[in-house]
Amino acid sequence: MPGEYQSGVNTELLRLKLESHGDVDIPDKVKNVSAVDSDAPLDVAMPADAIIRIKNLKKVFGDNVVLHDVNFYCPKGHVVSVLGPSGSGKSTMLRCINLLETPTAGEIWFEDQLVNSKETDVDHLRAKIGMVFQQFNLFPHLTALGNVELALKKVRKLSKEQAEAIATEQLEKVGLSDRADFLPSQLSGGQAQRVAIARALAMEPHVMLFDEATSALDPSLVRDVLDVMRDLAKSGMTMIVVTHEMAFARDVSDHVVFMEGGVVYEQGTPEKIFDHPDRERTREFLQGMID
Ligand SMILES: Nc1ncnc2c1ncn2[C@@H]1O[C@H](COP(=O)(O)OP(=O)(O)OP(=O)(O)O)[C@@H](O)[C@H]1O
Ligand SMILES: [Mg+2]
Repeated sequence: MPGEYQSGVNTELLRLKLESHGDVDIPDKVKNVSAVDSDAPLDVAMPADAIIRIKNLKKVFGDNVVLHDVNFYCPKGHVVSVLGPSGSGKSTMLRCINLLETPTAGEIWFEDQLVNSKETDVDHLRAKIGMVFQQFNLFPHLTALGNVELALKKVRKLSKEQAEAIATEQLEKVGLSDRADFLPSQLSGGQAQRVAIARALAMEPHVMLFDEATSALDPSLVRDVLDVMRDLAKSGMTMIVVTHEMAFARDVSDHVVFMEGGVVYEQGTPEKIFDHPDRERTREFLQGMID
């Protein structure tokens, strides 16, 4: 929906200035959205029913500030693609969402739950927020079926029969019924990645995070994985997808977030970001991807 994700920065500043006639202090969080020049929407503009809301997220490793101030949200059923150069903080941001990294400051909301809170049950959170990595992370000693069954038995405490039934169904959905008894070493990269997707889906996640799920694959195998991701998006799954696959980002996304230097440098509809980005570095990045 055009304008749905519109940044609240300018309108909110304007409203405060108009209301205050210029003589009331404007809160810092409104004035200085980030130390770096960002296009981040403010929390005032974030709908409370978005399934993921990231507000003023900061992540520091030692004295290296990797995420300065990241703000965006993802409504239920939408696909948000995250683009940006290497080192811009895309993986770190994604890993903060399911607490593979602990945010230094800011807030991450999953549905009505503050993720970076002491009360968070991490296993429960990760069951609801599925994640697929570049390097599959399958257990090498377990078959495809065994990999998909594992968390069903350990986290969801299902019986062997129930776990097997769900795992079998999920493998079928990603087109791998005939590979259920294969070990990861006997699968192609594309097949292994589809097992990883089936494993995440088996937990019935409310949102799926993909971190360059096709980057490690031989070009001939990329399509099968992207097809599974496209079908998933069509089925209404909420997805946040870090990707270098520009055609996928353009066709499948409802919203595109461009990260640069640890901030959301520009964001908008795929049409806006790909066809007429407002900002220099977005244009340069996209041009570089085409060349
Ligand atoms: N555990 C860590 N300890 C220290 N620095 C880290 C750690 N993880 C990431 N970084 C640093 O954070 C920065 C951002 O890394 P990140 O992996 O999030 O970038 P990225 O946008 O995903 O890049 P790429 O496109 O190459 O995957 C990098 O400078 C990286 O060295
Ligand atoms: Mg990365």
